[in-house]
Amino acid sequence: MITPAITGTGVFTPRETITNDELVEAFNAYAEKFNIENAEAIEAGELEAKSPSSTEFILSASGIEQRYVMDKSGVLDPEVMHPVLRPRADEEPGLMAEMALSAARDALVQAGRTAKDVDLVICAASNHERAYPAIAIEIQELLGAGGFAFDMNVACSSATFGIQAAADMIRAGSAKCALIVNPEICSAHLEWRDRDCHFIFGDVCTAAVIEPAEAAQGAHFLIRSTRCATQFSNNIRNNNGFLRRTRPGQMEDRRDMQFMQEGRKVFKEVLPLVSRHIADHMAEEGVAADDLRRLWLHQANKSMNDFIGRKVLGRVPAPEEQPNILQDYANTSSAGSIIAFSKYSDDLKPGDTGLICSFGAGYSVGSVLVERG
Ligand code: COA
Repeated sequence: MITPAITGTGVFTPRETITNDELVEAFNAYAEKFNIENAEAIEAGELEAKSPSSTEFILSASGIEQRYVMDKSGVLDPEVMHPVLRPRADEEPGLMAEMALSAARDALVQAGRTAKDVDLVICAASNHERAYPAIAIEIQELLGAGGFAFDMNVACSSATFGIQAAADMIRAGSAKCALIVNPEICSAHLEWRDRDCHFIFGDVCTAAVIEPAEAAQGAHFLIRSTRCATQFSNNIRNNNGFLRRTRPGQMEDRRDMQFMQEGRKVFKEVLPLVSRHIADHMAEEGVAADDLRRLWLHQANKSMNDFIGRKVLGRVPAPEEQPNILQDYANTSSAGSIIAFSKYSDDLKPGDTGLICSFGAGYSVGSVLVERG
């Protein structure tokens, strides 16, 4: 029986950051302008006035202090309020592929592998910049990898679902060296004009190499088991899609063409779902709370992670047991738990056990139980 292992990870971090103060200043300038320009309609009760955002609210509601983005200037321009990215010719590498290459190269170096060894590329992300050809196939070509490649999307759980898919293929023998990349350009699907959510997301790309443990060239994490689950919900939704132009009125600038959520409901419904999911996964594998050295959780909200950590361990986890990166990166969708894993796993000793867990739209939840090899 082949045991799959994570043999390398990499993180591409964009150069530009936006602090909460910068974000709030830009939003408030936009809101003020909106209210002046629409004063009559607001007065007549036809439009709602925009309320200001606040740095204190953002930090206390989410734990987020800043986010990395692919373009800061557009987001902070009250006349624009979204990233502005350079158009690219079809012959040029796409933006997602470019981000993925950087993270992939780091992951391959850590694994002691070259692109020639890779025979499976999965681009697992919340959004893909075009319908086809698959971004993963472009990455395969740019890297010079062999085998086959495909895209998949399970929103915030894309990375863990991708790891499960790759680990299963390594076990089955249909792949020998898998590369999973998670390029998340969340800034492009976030509605920066909505104060309820404008602080939530950031951009990043993560990568992981998965191989049979016996082929590992250096330090690695055995994948003991994976567990994925889904349960339909409309509480996190984005209605943008290829049928858009076929439906009257859908080409307008509409709020539902960007990320939408019922944050409170998500909080209330996802927490028990995730806590139960992790508890069941651990019970199935005979892993007790005391056996778990580390939890690398999805990075959406600090209070959510505090709650899950307490539930899973039965006590308040020490900060190093459950590392958060969301204060620096914000919510980077599927990449969050992999950033935490990549940055905070080196110190684990052979035999130490940890759990990667992501959760989000769908609803979806994926967990990966790993053991330092
Ligand atoms: N600045 C100031 N006030 C704000 C604000 C902002 N930027 N955004 C919202 N508010 C106000 C609201 O209007 C509300 O006012 P009210 O009480 O007068 O109605 C109040 O602050 C509380 O808003 P609420 O949305 O209930 O805050 P919250 O405590 O639920 O925090 C989230 C918001 C989004 C941080 C939180 O709900 C969350 O993290 N949910 C889960 C997110 C998640 O995991 N999503 C998955 C995404 S992939």
